[in-house]
Amino acid sequence: MTWLITGGAGYIGAHVARSMAGAGEEVVVLDDLSAAVPERLPAGVPLVEGSTLDGARLREVCAQYGVTGVVHLAARKQVAESVADPTRYYRENVGGLATLLDAMTGAGVKRLLFSSSAAVYGNPDVDLITEDTPCAPVNPYGETKLAGEWLVRAAGRAHGISTVCLRYFNVAGAAAPELADTGVFNIVPMVFDRLTRDEAPRIFGDDYPTPDGTCVRDYIHVADLAEAHLAAARRLAEGTRPGDLTLNIGRGEGVSVRELITVIGEVTGDRRAPVVEARRPGDAPRAVGSAERAARELGWRARRDVREMVRSAWEGWRLHHRR
Ligand SMILES: NC(=O)c1ccc[n+]([C@@H]2O[C@H](COP(=O)([O-])OP(=O)(O)OC[C@H]3O[C@@H](n4cnc5c(N)ncnc54)[C@H](O)[C@@H]3O)[C@@H](O)[C@H]2O)c1
Repeated sequence: MTWLITGGAGYIGAHVARSMAGAGEEVVVLDDLSAAVPERLPAGVPLVEGSTLDGARLREVCAQYGVTGVVHLAARKQVAESVADPTRYYRENVGGLATLLDAMTGAGVKRLLFSSSAAVYGNPDVDLITEDTPCAPVNPYGETKLAGEWLVRAAGRAHGISTVCLRYFNVAGAAAPELADTGVFNIVPMVFDRLTRDEAPRIFGDDYPTPDGTCVRDYIHVADLAEAHLAAARRLAEGTRPGDLTLNIGRGEGVSVRELITVIGEVTGDRRAPVVEARRPGDAPRAVGSAERAARELGWRARRDVREMVRSAWEGWRLHHRR
């Protein structure tokens, strides 16, 4: 197998490239460099500059490298931006996927792993979200991920492509400091950002119906997530018949915002008390995914805990901010 990893110079993609290449898989990365840090890629992994919106470029890469499977991570991922500019999100996330699927079909590529998100569920009122929990995304970003899943399955059925959709929960941490997330869109870097500015971390709402009143989430270490991709890619490679699989990728354990901030205080040594502000519209009280189907289907379970996520993310944050 030769795997094309789209968006492979991004935060998660570089971890996936490193994990797959490290396990002996042939990989090539395509990235438009719009949100990439190319230095994240391990030595020996080719990086092709190109967009998933460019069908000719995709066909060229598939032919040149003899691509036999695709791990598709390239996407825009900011919820607020998707609310402000939904057409861009549909064009790039759904349109880019359609162009990729056409190129794969033309090149006879029969295996696809798609980066989906827990955002497809919206705000379900359940203790544990399973893959059968109804999907009702509450923003255009989540909608593009759900539409992407539909498209992946429909194209899979039409063209005999085996597919896996991985619905990631809240991704954090780094396998090495230089691979860390450089964006400030998720809670862990947002708290680091506040502390670095000498400001108290913020909690948006402490009157939710949860044990300590703050929102509860399911955090997953990016290194565990990368290992899930390797396991899914290997399962796709072994499969003799086309089929589709949709899996939650999380730890199945809830951690509240207040608990997370306490761990961040312990790791960074900056234990200042958080300030409580008003709830943000659209935040669900609790979003924790069942990890059982992934364990059953892939023989994979997350191994790293929240403290390890925070510790490794903090090392990466300090490296980037020294620079
Ligand atoms: N980070 C999270 O918490 C999270 C959670 C759920 C799902 N996801 C999904 O995981 C994937 C990767 O996320 P990330 O956090 O690594 O984001 P990221 O922005 O760090 O990486 C995305 C990469 O894709 C590239 N890219 C974007 N549009 C492209 C295009 N049209 N053609 C080619 N390359 C393109 C960017 O340059 C970047 O390198 C995305 O699909 C995202 O929606 C992320």
